[in-house]
Amino acid sequence: MRSLLWLAVVGLAVAEDGLAAWLRYARVPSASRHLGKLPSAVVTLNATKGYPVHTAGQELVDGIGGLFGKKLTVAKSKPKGTTATVGTVSAYVDKNPSAAKGLPDLVEDGFYLKISKGNVLILGQNERGALYGAFHYLSVIAQGNVSDFTLTSNPDAPVRWVNQWDNMQDGGTHGSVERGYGGDSIFFWDGHIREDLTRAGQYARLLASIGINAVVANNVNANASILTPENMDGLARIADVFRPYGVQLGVSLNFAAPQLLGGLDTFDPLDKTVVNWWQGIADNLYKRIPDMAGYLVKANSEGQPGPMTYNRTLADGANLFARTLQPHGGIILFRAFVYDHRSLNQTLDWKADRANAAVDYFDGLDDKFEDNVVIQIKYGPIDFQVREPVSPLFTHLRRTGATVELQITQEYLGQQAHVVYLAPMWKELLDFDLRVDNKPSTLKSIVSGKRFGQKLTGYAGVVNVGTNTTWLGSHLAMSNLYAYGKLAWDPEQTSTGILKEWTTLTFGHDKLVHDVITKISMESWPAYEDYSGNLGIQTLTDILLGHYGPNPGSQDGNPWGQWTRADNDTIGMDRTVWNGTGFAGQYPPEIAAMYENIETTPDNLLLWFHHVPYTQKLKSGKTVIQHFYDAHYKGSSTAQTFVTLWEKLKGRIDKERYEHVLFRLIYQAGHSLVWRDSVNQFYFNKSGIPDELGRVGNHKYRIEAEKMELKGYKSYRVSPFEAASGYHCVVTETNSTVGTATTKLKVPSGKYDLAVNYYDMALGNSTWELFVDRKLVGKWKGDLEYELGRAPSPYIDGQTAARKTFRGVRVKKGSELKVVGRPDGLEPAPIDYISVLPEGTVD
Ligand code: GCU
Repeated sequence: MRSLLWLAVVGLAVAEDGLAAWLRYARVPSASRHLGKLPSAVVTLNATKGYPVHTAGQELVDGIGGLFGKKLTVAKSKPKGTTATVGTVSAYVDKNPSAAKGLPDLVEDGFYLKISKGNVLILGQNERGALYGAFHYLSVIAQGNVSDFTLTSNPDAPVRWVNQWDNMQDGGTHGSVERGYGGDSIFFWDGHIREDLTRAGQYARLLASIGINAVVANNVNANASILTPENMDGLARIADVFRPYGVQLGVSLNFAAPQLLGGLDTFDPLDKTVVNWWQGIADNLYKRIPDMAGYLVKANSEGQPGPMTYNRTLADGANLFARTLQPHGGIILFRAFVYDHRSLNQTLDWKADRANAAVDYFDGLDDKFEDNVVIQIKYGPIDFQVREPVSPLFTHLRRTGATVELQITQEYLGQQAHVVYLAPMWKELLDFDLRVDNKPSTLKSIVSGKRFGQKLTGYAGVVNVGTNTTWLGSHLAMSNLYAYGKLAWDPEQTSTGILKEWTTLTFGHDKLVHDVITKISMESWPAYEDYSGNLGIQTLTDILLGHYGPNPGSQDGNPWGQWTRADNDTIGMDRTVWNGTGFAGQYPPEIAAMYENIETTPDNLLLWFHHVPYTQKLKSGKTVIQHFYDAHYKGSSTAQTFVTLWEKLKGRIDKERYEHVLFRLIYQAGHSLVWRDSVNQFYFNKSGIPDELGRVGNHKYRIEAEKMELKGYKSYRVSPFEAASGYHCVVTETNSTVGTATTKLKVPSGKYDLAVNYYDMALGNSTWELFVDRKLVGKWKGDLEYELGRAPSPYIDGQTAARKTFRGVRVKKGSELKVVGRPDGLEPAPIDYISVLPEGTVD
């Protein structure tokens, strides 16, 4: 069996399809040189199959086998030669009572490592800690460090959870995984828990290796049917595949389940029959899963039921579950993401503000929660935006513990079709000092429980992996999952340090590979912010559809409350106390004063806190509007460099992952131009203020498709207008007509890059062919909806706009340029424009 497992691990590493992620155990350079410094046998203390110490033993065998080609044996008692001993502190001390004095203090899940001349001692405060220690040792040696060291490592916080937003049913809320871009759910299918939970076990392995101790498998928008007896049995099967890795299962609840599932006529949290019903559920779950972590609850938010339906407080709601969990030792993460998306009115009420909701609802409840309630707070007051101030609610809860909710799945941040390394953003948030009582109060000190002394605090990360072998849909996006676990364990680690580890484990030791991945990753968040939404304007994605492509007009005029309040002269949310929504006043005085005043508000949050003219001068000396224009040009030109940087790695990493990443970076480079032009065009149109550098609206290399000679194609006005160059594209006259768009080139003879901007809707798979003088330059298909996991769209808009580039094409002055589009299904082979670019130019 062991050799089968070993083969499986090696096999995964060979395939390089991403499934083994950073646990590839690929052979380290000059492996044979290190053999003498490695253990020859593994001793597991009190190991039981199916529990973490046993798993740790297996991982050591598999890891050292894969990394160094050294075959270890597992022994019960001390064999001859060097050994790796792994177990809990108490099991070790039982056997060696005199060793107790020399051991450090460990907190729950902590571990101690002592490596000396090939002997390895790995002790955990509990079984899980022992497994974490084994993974840590393997990670260190996989990075080529096979020398002696001693380490005591304790987690910064006890709650280090992952939330999956998986639906029970594909076609439920947002498909199989809400805001998931890596394929279908690995847990659920067709309303049930999957029979084959292999991937769930592999997921637990990955998570354990980065210190994650619980996973809530079902969506926060919970389906009550998760609690049927059959599905509870299924949940127990998930817990069974998690257990060997010390990962506990959490369950997300629908507040109205007593009514929806239980047949009661109420779900009032203070009603006795409701309380009893929930107690029955907790008892039944724990009968099946005695080590269940607890619950996650989204209540009174975005149409979900909750205690306020019965005029009860949020504390009444949270405590209902907390009490039913207490006999079993479970905890409840109760989400602070509470707001009403139906009643906010932007036109009637200048002071209306979704950002105010969390503090408004939770203020005064701090001492009302049971001890096993943790409030789960999104990092910013709105919703996982590219730039948000830290949520002020963290400063209002001093007795009740909090977790910070981070989003690994890139809902508003390019949906894994754009590379955005998030650790630098998370670090900025965690390091932010909220100055509670005028004292140092970083976010990380609050969520570690150190600042206010709570016991239950930590991290919750929305991850949303799927059945895709890359887990998240993109190899590079996995650095975010890795970084999340690492920061939840120790927020002092640096973004670059984490990245270096991850890159070595994922792609190996080549210096150029490291340089390229570091450069792309570290530039990716600033670039995305630059070409999407600047100055704290929040997301400019299509807020009513996929949260992906640009649609700046979609933010306003609806009750979702992600407003920009942009008009012809001014832009931004006034969140001051003196004249605005009052949100700035929710912070402790020093921070409130900083945000209240335009002079002291950092530029990158200017429009979050203030409503200003487009001509407002920033600290940089630029006006708001010119900053918009410049930043969009800068960010999108950085995205172009990602492609050329990556191309340097050809032949240096496996072909499979090289091509996969390259495809996405090329796509991102094209889509960043769509972002640039849409946003700039939109605000130019609104403000009427021209770009000082004359770029916006002037594209001298472009040939608009609607201005070409058309046969079978017709001009079509795009909505939103800014999603098309010149506001128009062409579409085929019918669903079966082949369209051609032809023009004579006026450029001097030479080599050019030909870029075709087109739209790839999720309604069919049109094909396009590009010809120069009747010679085929290239052909492509509209199948991005399968290639990219991002939210599919049926529209011709900023979401579906894409670019295909053919480099170094020879043309002559007067050459005939022709695109032939063949529609498919309801997709009419749309084309926006063709750029004829002298080499090195991008437009
Ligand atoms: C966002 C997201 C939803 C999700 C919600 C939540 O609004 O778009 O898909 O359900 O956050 O965090 O509850």
